[in-house]
Amino acid sequence: MEFYDVINKRRTVREFLDKEVGFETVKRILEAGYKTPTWNHNRNWHFIILKTDEEKEAILEYAKKKSSKFDEEKYLNIPRPYPITLGQKMFAHAMPRQYSMLEDAPYVIIPVFRSKDVSGGSFSKLNPFATIWCSIENIFLAATAEGLACSMRIPANEEHDDVKKEAESAGNLHDARFHRDWLCRPQRKGIGANRP
Ligand SMILES: Cc1cc2nc3c(=O)[nH]c(=O)nc-3n(C[C@H](O)[C@H](O)[C@H](O)COP(=O)(O)O)c2cc1C
Repeated sequence: MEFYDVINKRRTVREFLDKEVGFETVKRILEAGYKTPTWNHNRNWHFIILKTDEEKEAILEYAKKKSSKFDEEKYLNIPRPYPITLGQKMFAHAMPRQYSMLEDAPYVIIPVFRSKDVSGGSFSKLNPFATIWCSIENIFLAATAEGLACSMRIPANEEHDDVKKEAESAGNLHDARFHRDWLCRPQRKGIGANRP
């Protein structure tokens, strides 16, 4: 697919066809997720991949609880002193799908990265977060180029800690760190030439 076609076709999708996606395709997409600009000259993030219903249920329980509580009709019909906005309608569509989109997708990819507290101070504190966003965007574009679609869920409140705790205790999840041989980057001359 042409690059600008990819840009134009990418969109957030929250309902998926019941079709299998081969893991080779996922590997190509994750490779794209590693070939991003990186703030500290190291690509030291990794991805956890959830595939089965059991894995998703265990790790994403918070999202499940949260989205089941949201009442789309009620939200759409809240009395407002102005006509409902398009943004509010999109919010109403997205909220109840925060778990079903993860449940229905053939794969859930969780990027794992280190970041300091980003509550204030220097802009550069945001660098780890900005880097992982570059990676997410590459993943979205690569998936689009593969003829696939994606959505994303940003953890709310204590959801991050909950997912982290459950993922750590689940142990045998598919962890892309063990597949660094995928990352066959073309050899570069000079510094780092021998790194993967
Ligand atoms: C920073 C950021 C956070 C987002 N968080 C969520 C989220 O938690 N859940 C969700 O369903 N979509 C999320 N989205 C997707 C947006 O809703 C979507 O990108 C937006 O509606 C524009 O639509 P498009 O991606 O189809 O162009 C997020 C997007 C961004 C950039």
